[in-house]
Amino acid sequence: MKILVVGGGGREHALAWKLAQSPRVEAILAAPGSAALESLAECHPDVAAADLDAVVKLAREQAADLVVVGPEDPLAAGLADRLRAEGIATFGPSAAAAQLEGSKAFAKDFMERHGIPTAQHRAFDDVDAALAYVAERGGRCVVKADGLAAGKGVAMCETPADAESALREIMQDRRFGEAGSRVVIEDWLEGEEASYYAISDGKNFVTLAAAQDHKRLLDGDEGENTGGMGTYSPAPVVDPQVEAKILERVVRPTIQGMAAEGHPFVGVLFVGLMVDAAGDPQVIEFNVRFGDPETQSLMVRMDGDLADLLDSAARGRLDPDLELGWGDAAVCVVLASGGYPRSYSTGYGIRGLAQAESAEGVVVFHAGTRRGADGGFETAGGRVLGVTARGESVEVARDRAYAAVEAIDFEGAHHRTDIAYRALARA
Ligand code: AMP
Ligand code: GLY
Repeated sequence: MKILVVGGGGREHALAWKLAQSPRVEAILAAPGSAALESLAECHPDVAAADLDAVVKLAREQAADLVVVGPEDPLAAGLADRLRAEGIATFGPSAAAAQLEGSKAFAKDFMERHGIPTAQHRAFDDVDAALAYVAERGGRCVVKADGLAAGKGVAMCETPADAESALREIMQDRRFGEAGSRVVIEDWLEGEEASYYAISDGKNFVTLAAAQDHKRLLDGDEGENTGGMGTYSPAPVVDPQVEAKILERVVRPTIQGMAAEGHPFVGVLFVGLMVDAAGDPQVIEFNVRFGDPETQSLMVRMDGDLADLLDSAARGRLDPDLELGWGDAAVCVVLASGGYPRSYSTGYGIRGLAQAESAEGVVVFHAGTRRGADGGFETAGGRVLGVTARGESVEVARDRAYAAVEAIDFEGAHHRTDIAYRALARA
């Protein structure tokens, strides 16, 4: 099998690393890929993930047997539809099904139609109506830009005054661009967050596992929101009872509902959840692609054949009884550039990668690196590396990951020192 991976970040590095372990995989291509991916894949740096024409052309010319799409933007723009129209098996949802992530208003209405538990909400296109609503409802709420805003278009508002300034920033100042032409205002959910992953072929699904991300920049879940500073899997808040509720109340009705509405969901359903004190899950958001950096932990934990799994889903032939097999635990610690998630400099040499990777159970995935003049890697992004380790427990995986982090060094490097603390506090 020849597989084209679309994207070039840490998530795609982790997917390619896992795909390469399958005996069925003869070759991996990546568009655009990255310097780090070159050891696993034939990279096409001139083919951007967002350039639909170029990706389709590459898949056709190279006769790819399967295309695996990493990021959400090309999915929302219809990449999977275009590839399928050419007869190319594709892992990733159609543009219509990708609305589960691309439009929060679509996702909320869908959940309402199908009785899927989520926070009460109202959507607004008009800033004055939105302002009047937050003043009238009072109390805490969450304000979200409707479109794709790279996970950053969300304001947690303690008071109506906070909500008012969030609405002005999003709808009037257009801090998140066109994504702010419409907002969703919803109840603030209490509990512990987790994410859950299931693979679907449009009819059936196979569950992956739960994971937890640390989105805040600083220890103790303080500071600004980021794309994710570290992850671990499993997430202990998702015990077998909670998992059963997630499957019956969320995953099954979502897959069945999308099929019934004529938009069968082919790809990975990534459900962001809040689990309350009674163990009842509510959906915070859907994503229609693998999480980054959750995938780094999931791929290091998973034993099964990823290529088989994604290929059978793309071809509508998923075996719902498939057992993937999972190691006990994995932890991923992100090394970020100084200044991230605001402005940062790049081009700093990275030392210690080989030593870090020589440790038992450790894999270093590259999110934002490139080749430097000396032939080694240098920094090229905000999130630079996902230092990931597997272990017999979250604690062992965490200790291995942090020992590897200690071996790596670049100017301005920043990381959280408490990834997985919630899991360890429960142990
Ligand atoms: P989203 O982009 O929708 O995933 O939201 C980003 C983050 O905001 C989530 O991971 C949660 O931490 C938080 N969040 C979003 N919506 C809610 C809500 N209704 N209640 C509590 N926290 C929320
Ligand atoms: N780590 C969060 C995301 O991929 O959306």
